[in-house]
Amino acid sequence: MTKVTFIEHNGKEHTIDAADGLTLMEAATKNMIPGIDADCGGACACATCMVYVPEEWAGKLEAKEDMEETMLDFCEHTAENSRLSCQIKISPALEGIRVTMPESQH
Ligand code: FES
Repeated sequence: MTKVTFIEHNGKEHTIDAADGLTLMEAATKNMIPGIDADCGGACACATCMVYVPEEWAGKLEAKEDMEETMLDFCEHTAENSRLSCQIKISPALEGIRVTMPESQH
């Protein structure tokens, strides 16, 4: 289990113990975290699972695949540190990670 904190756009925090091997999106939806809609079910095709990842964690994540990059390019609320949470696998290396959801997802 890895401790992960999801922060809503309004600052409300949700810390969960997430099973390693799940994606961040799967852990969020299993725990009913508001702000991660995941309309496409993890197929990298909707961008409603976007999170902002603080710089100190960005380097610990696997690099974006082309599909994720393309999806983010089309999304209105994309920032430098945006990632699709369905493309991030939880592992002990992410213990304590904190991610924020965009205002558009609530
Ligand atoms: Fe649709 Fe992540 S769940 S892009």
